[in-house]
Amino acid sequence: MPAYRHGARPMVRRGRRGPAKKYYPSRQRLTLPLQPGSKEKPVVLQSKKVLKEYTSGNSDTLTVVFKDLGSQVSYRTLFFFEYLGPLILYPVFYYFPVYQYFGYKGERAIHPVQTYAMYYWCFHYFKRIMETFFVHRFSHATSPLSNVFRNCAYYWTFGCYIAYYVNHPLYTPVNDLQMKIGFGFGLIMQVANLYCHIILRNLRSPSGNGGYQIPRGFLFNIVTCANYTTEIYQWLGFNIATQTVAGYIFLVVAASIMTNWALAKHRRLRRLFDGKEGRPKYPRRWVILPPFLFLTDNTHGSEAFAR
Ligand SMILES: NC(=O)c1ccc[n+]([C@@H]2O[C@H](COP(=O)([O-])OP(=O)(O)OC[C@H]3O[C@@H](n4cnc5c(N)ncnc54)[C@H](OP(=O)(O)O)[C@@H]3O)[C@@H](O)[C@H]2O)c1
Repeated sequence: MPAYRHGARPMVRRGRRGPAKKYYPSRQRLTLPLQPGSKEKPVVLQSKKVLKEYTSGNSDTLTVVFKDLGSQVSYRTLFFFEYLGPLILYPVFYYFPVYQYFGYKGERAIHPVQTYAMYYWCFHYFKRIMETFFVHRFSHATSPLSNVFRNCAYYWTFGCYIAYYVNHPLYTPVNDLQMKIGFGFGLIMQVANLYCHIILRNLRSPSGNGGYQIPRGFLFNIVTCANYTTEIYQWLGFNIATQTVAGYIFLVVAASIMTNWALAKHRRLRRLFDGKEGRPKYPRRWVILPPFLFLTDNTHGSEAFAR
């Protein structure tokens, strides 16, 4: 628990004999000490502030708690690798004779829906990689290295699982109309999702102070996480067109993950914009759009529409 002088910034710096050369700034977390037994969350020191801002009296020193967050990677690296897997692995099942290794020796006839599904899938993950580098303005520079393995396991495994069934030699296509409705709806939702991400991007300045604003415009006027809503709907479109159990399982898992995150983001915005001390009040909005009506905001009973 080191003590720092006022003018210093809260960061353990590198030096020839520095306290910890391996503790580069992004893997450090410095907090103010809590009273023993306190259940409150500690105040995390911001690197842009000076330590004097954290002292109340005339004290010349400040005690802070140091935590090593472990090895870190940039958010762009994390997102790039988790999306690269499905982008590469899915076409392997389409283009290469992988099913021979699963016991199917005959010729494989490729249905149009399988070709469109491959393009749809690749467009989706290519779009996500492009958004990662050219659209998103992240609040945190880095993420723990362990998240790369966890997230890659999630995306790469589901990518192979769905690709295996959609491209399977025994796959039965849906009728033409259903395919067109599914892909058409899904593509509209992908474009809407991109538009949502551009709206979120414009909430932060290029200098990147990382703060949060109330998202407004387009679907954000009625729903807090319009980007998750459109993401869920675009997977629904893909599944209407391709109709596999594997695809629907992914849809349910992805929707549950995004639902949890949406609830947390909704609560954070309500907390930040509480209408007190000159702060604006967060408007009345859905957490996520119907038909996901089972979603609740627990801070307000069991209503899906959080006030
Ligand atoms: N299929 C799946 O399982 C799955 C799961 C999750 C996400 N996704 C897709 O990946 C996309 C990105 O995911 P994500 O969780 O990173 O999205 P996100 O956090 O909701 O938003 C994307 C970017 O906008 C910023 N942002 C969000 N709300 C903001 C606000 N009120 N004010 C200012 N900036 C704000 C975020 O900043 P921060 O850096 O501060 O968060 C982030 O950089 C999703 O929109 C979705 O399309 C898919």
